[in-house]
Amino acid sequence: MAEVGREIERLDAWRKVLGKALYAADMRLEGLLHMKVLRSDRPHARIRSIDTSRAQGIEGVVRVFTWRDIPGKNLIGIINKDQPVLAAERVRYVGEPIALVVASTEEAASEALEAIRVEYEDLPPIFSPEEAEKGEVLLHEGGNLLAERRILKGDVERGFEEADLILERVYRTTMLEHTYLEPDAGVGWVDEEGRITICASTQNPHYDLREVAAVLGLEPSRVRVIQAETGGGFGSKLDITVQCHLALAVYHLRRPVRLVYSREEAYLATAKRHPLTMRYRSAARRDGRLLAVDVEIIGDTGAYASYGLAVATRAAVHATGPYEVPHVRVISRFYYTNNPFCGAMRGFGVPQIAFAHESQMDLLAEELGIDPLEIRRINVLRPGSETATGQVLRSSVGIGRCLEEISPYWRSSRGRGKGLGAMWYGIGNTGVKNPSRARIAVDPDGRVILYTGAAEIGQGSDTVLTQIAADVLGVRVDGIRLVRADTAWTMDAGATSASRQTYISGGAIADACGKLRRDILEEASRILERPLEELILEEGLIKTLREGEVLLSLKEVAERASAEGRALVAEGFFDPQTTPLDPDTGQGVPYATYAFACQMAEVEVEGETGEVTVRRVVAAHDVGRAINPRQVVGQILSGVAMGVGFALMEEFHPGKTRSMKDYLIPTSLDVPEVIPIIVEDPEPTGPFGAKGVGEPALIPTAPAVLNAIADALGERIYHLPANLERVQEAARRRSQKGGKG
Ligand code: MOS
Repeated sequence: MAEVGREIERLDAWRKVLGKALYAADMRLEGLLHMKVLRSDRPHARIRSIDTSRAQGIEGVVRVFTWRDIPGKNLIGIINKDQPVLAAERVRYVGEPIALVVASTEEAASEALEAIRVEYEDLPPIFSPEEAEKGEVLLHEGGNLLAERRILKGDVERGFEEADLILERVYRTTMLEHTYLEPDAGVGWVDEEGRITICASTQNPHYDLREVAAVLGLEPSRVRVIQAETGGGFGSKLDITVQCHLALAVYHLRRPVRLVYSREEAYLATAKRHPLTMRYRSAARRDGRLLAVDVEIIGDTGAYASYGLAVATRAAVHATGPYEVPHVRVISRFYYTNNPFCGAMRGFGVPQIAFAHESQMDLLAEELGIDPLEIRRINVLRPGSETATGQVLRSSVGIGRCLEEISPYWRSSRGRGKGLGAMWYGIGNTGVKNPSRARIAVDPDGRVILYTGAAEIGQGSDTVLTQIAADVLGVRVDGIRLVRADTAWTMDAGATSASRQTYISGGAIADACGKLRRDILEEASRILERPLEELILEEGLIKTLREGEVLLSLKEVAERASAEGRALVAEGFFDPQTTPLDPDTGQGVPYATYAFACQMAEVEVEGETGEVTVRRVVAAHDVGRAINPRQVVGQILSGVAMGVGFALMEEFHPGKTRSMKDYLIPTSLDVPEVIPIIVEDPEPTGPFGAKGVGEPALIPTAPAVLNAIADALGERIYHLPANLERVQEAARRRSQKGGKG
């Protein structure tokens, strides 16, 4: 075990800091054409006609495409296929694509956009789930309700009857925009084998391929998707953005085409974080034990489903927080509206729900006169605990240890303005199959090549997956070449999503490498005429198990295998064991394993101006096993920064928020001192015990900051973000009541 646990440099570090990494927008192909997208300026309308004749005549315009040019299906979507590639009869949000212009220059393409005439008949729009529920206007064939999910455990009414304290509150969050640094971009061409090839900024190239093939009505083998270097995604690049539009043009024109979104276009046209309204009723005994929670979650999923069903389900499953609660009722309802469509964003609904359950914990603690850390310690999940879905947790339940790690900081933190946020997060998709596959090969000249479909979007999977491969196989990281996320060469590893790649793709890679190591040792055993059990592969060398005597190099083994016509290649597979959730009760095993964390925030609040300064965050995270501790710390720092944005400043208002000047994100000056603490409670089914940290890093921060603000002000804020107005308002409420609450 030489490479796992080592803080090696990221494999992509130098090419990125030196500006050598090639993003889609940097690609210069011979004869590259430019695409621009005409988008709806109406939230809800019938399209009477689309007139492209004037646009077609503009000099430099190669062609204008509408839905009529789509040879296959004009409906896409990761879970529910409800979203047109190009609107045909109806538009459902401002920004919905209607037509594509391809021209020899960007200027000509822009001019042509202006020349397209769309005749609309406006329909009444719906902008809130409450209006959607009334059903006076129907946005989709199946109605306005996208999803209703229930989690039912125990006897909630009995829990409330037996309680000494019942607390009811309503929490709200706003729509958010991911604001990854690289706006969506891609390039398309016909490759040397005649395949429609798309190279795009994406989190899931193998899914993109299936959508492109269906839209073009082609066999998947006639399409190729390559993940371009990707400058962040945070969930939004799980949805199709440029891929199908580019593919349609390449299909008809057989020429290379590029589409690069402006920041304004990325804001207008890509997925958002779901704004949620969460009504919580919590019941506890005098000694602090939680007896029951009764939760209603209402979500605005916007115009199309995207990942809405997954968010509705995940928020419901996680609604208790990382606590054992005997009686649970959660109902989660997500409605279509004419707002921008909401989809995946780092945490899939859990950042929102954690704000609510952690506020409830502090309110209960205050009413019961119990220390906030203590009330959490009393209730947290332990090995043997049963979750709200009836899953009994057997191992790797590190939340207790996270609290222990936070405890000295909590006890020594003086003065007002400190708060805690705890969380749990199921790794991988919820109650559905989500396998990963991998291939590992040794070339005849002894070079090791790892093939993975897992998209590196800045989170560090290239590095971590290579470390796992190196140690399982018995070679060094610098002896492995990586072929990543190109559907012509890699197998489907599933999405870079749900904090799943280290655990699931790491598992598939470990499986492949374990098989290949055995094959290599068998080959060596034949060459050396020595029993297999006496040999090991270490640092690319065949050695004796006992003395560590070097007998052969991997290169020699590879040459011999090649000479005799045997390929040294293995494929691996891992799919975590889950079960579907019962549709009526939500009972089942949604995830094979969970990450846990607790963070403590210390803040200063200037009540007059409403200014909040987050001074310090202590962040304890149970990641199972840190494959690369420095990268785990990197995820924690970035999660805290993003969490500060969610807590204090970020809010997206459809129609008003048009670009980064209207949308505040944290800068380096807003990021507090962070003390990261890695807790390792190994997961038996994970590679080297690893789980995940990508989303968990963000989730506890906003709850901790909001609890710290409540501690500082003596008055609580129930609506994120806690911007200047909301803090001022809370300060006024407190002074009207008089004294500290
Ligand atoms: Mo994510 S919200 O799984 O990219």
